[in-house]
Amino acid sequence: MLTGDVMSFEAAGKAKRRKSNAHVIVCGNEKGGSGKTTTSMHITVALLKAGFRVATIDLDTRQKSLTRYVQNRRNFAQTHKVDLELPSHFRFDTATVDSQRDAQSEDFAAFVRAVSDVEESHDFVVVDTPGSDNYLMRLSHSMADTLVTPMNDSFVDFDVLGRVDGDSLEIVDVSHYAMMVREARRQRRLADNGLLDWIVVRNRLASIGSRNQLNLHACVKELSLRLGFRVADGISERVVYREYFPKGLTALDDVKNLGLTDRASRSHHSALLEIRNLIKMLRLPVDEAGRQRADARKVWLQRSAEPVAMPDIFA
Ligand SMILES: Nc1ncnc2c1ncn2[C@@H]1O[C@H](COP(=O)(O)OP(=O)(O)OP(=O)(O)O)[C@@H](O)[C@H]1O
Ligand SMILES: [Mg+2]
Repeated sequence: MLTGDVMSFEAAGKAKRRKSNAHVIVCGNEKGGSGKTTTSMHITVALLKAGFRVATIDLDTRQKSLTRYVQNRRNFAQTHKVDLELPSHFRFDTATVDSQRDAQSEDFAAFVRAVSDVEESHDFVVVDTPGSDNYLMRLSHSMADTLVTPMNDSFVDFDVLGRVDGDSLEIVDVSHYAMMVREARRQRRLADNGLLDWIVVRNRLASIGSRNQLNLHACVKELSLRLGFRVADGISERVVYREYFPKGLTALDDVKNLGLTDRASRSHHSALLEIRNLIKMLRLPVDEAGRQRADARKVWLQRSAEPVAMPDIFA
């Protein structure tokens, strides 16, 4: 259970359960391996533990890592006869029709249906996206209320957001993914005046600071002003984020009570604190304002139910 100043968050979860309409959190970054699935699962479990009803959608039709993560969690709970919080999970398969235009219409309809199906009965929908630019990935970005972009702590990964000059390290251009988010935001504003809150989370931070880390931090800060995203404190490089996947567990699970160890490691505890901190920084809506935002998105969804218009929008 979450404790301390996260308690109010928990209380809000109980209150919100009586209301309808879900808040959509999308984990996205065109760069593969940046931590989207790991972050999706940790946000999901944090929200479930706080008492919210959470649905998850896996848009990564090839790897299906979030689907595997949730399955592993379900299997662990069954095998060990323990209670583990589970989201209502939806796997997304790409349309099988021939023409690209038809396929996109079908994908659009299926995705909207998936979100509509869960939005009345859940408080949050967490969407994990693939590390490549495709139609569904763009669509999900334009439907997000909160976009979480994990970014490995390297200039190679930064390059997906912005380009820097090799000598001065000044930002010389914004990159393809950043432009895509900008366009998704614009479309969303036009459609329902909705605001997309974009948070970049630096991932796999080394425990020992370096000049590179400082330089990167300065560049991320500068780009945040230009692109209008917030920067979260970040997630460290830790084995716990990797080793729990086969069991479907997260840094938020009580490994001692689950009988896995005599006591949680220091690394597990630190991971727990940094994930709680991340959740706080996301400033997720747990109040009336959040509900209103979700209502606005619903209106937009109804207006956008014309699938043939979508490819033109993103052209
Ligand atoms: N903070 C971290 N510390 C250690 N390992 C991490 C951390 N974050 C992610 N990883 C590991 O890095 C790899 C990539 O993470 P993940 O699968 O979450 O990224 P992704 O963005 O979803 O990748 P893809 O684009 O392929 O879907 C995984 O092996 C994961 O366990
Ligand atoms: Mg993934």
